[in-house]
Amino acid sequence: MTKIVFPTDEHHPYVDWNALAVATQITKDFEPDVRFAGSDGVDFYSISRFDKDPDLFRNNLQVELDSWAFAQSLWQAVTPDATVYFLIGNHEDRLRRYLWKNKELYGLRALELENIFRFKELGITMSQYDGLEQNFSNHLVVKHGSIVRKHSGYTARAELEKENYSISTLSGHTHRGAHIFQSTRSGVKQAVEAFCLCNTSPNYLHNPNWQNGLVFATVDDQGVEFELIPFRKSSDGKITAKWRDKYYTS
Ligand SMILES: [Fe+2]
Ligand SMILES: [Fe+2]
Repeated sequence: MTKIVFPTDEHHPYVDWNALAVATQITKDFEPDVRFAGSDGVDFYSISRFDKDPDLFRNNLQVELDSWAFAQSLWQAVTPDATVYFLIGNHEDRLRRYLWKNKELYGLRALELENIFRFKELGITMSQYDGLEQNFSNHLVVKHGSIVRKHSGYTARAELEKENYSISTLSGHTHRGAHIFQSTRSGVKQAVEAFCLCNTSPNYLHNPNWQNGLVFATVDDQGVEFELIPFRKSSDGKITAKWRDKYYTS
């Protein structure tokens, strides 16, 4: 049996620290064998195309990376024995695209993803296919995802279709939660959208359909089981979640 936790879309420095506090508390009790990092872990706002915002003075590239690394130390503390896989999200990909545009920097070892994200120090391994996905016994594929559809569940359906209903999927990217099922001739396949851990009220979007939460997956030789844990946010920003009859608060 492999127990997996998939914290996704932290978007440092725009992480919701209250959501992160609850996510790490629950994860500690879950005792996962596998944890994911990356998956839009860092926003890379500072090298995005929209780079004329005064916010840049507060949140430069080093601030974003330090915020992420600090959160990783919190994750590491609650999952000391977990294998940690890095998933490249479209926001981490901003770095690669930036380096391609500024070719004179390309090839600098210090700017390789493994070094920027301190893989060695934080005990992180790149996931399969250059960081795009991780497959568990052909029962589950975990990826950041690249599809965004209008409603919760529509993207999960599209990710499953993309895999020709051959394997269950767990993906981030939409910042929403969803769980759908499909019977096939080779058994029931499922697809999950894994919420987000970033601020769900960013100043550049009005009322986005985003939810904080966390997803656990357990893979055995028969298949995969998911546990979706949606977080509740009170007006003062505090987060509460209930998992297996226990309440967790920030
Ligand atoms: Fe994201
Ligand atoms: Fe994304």
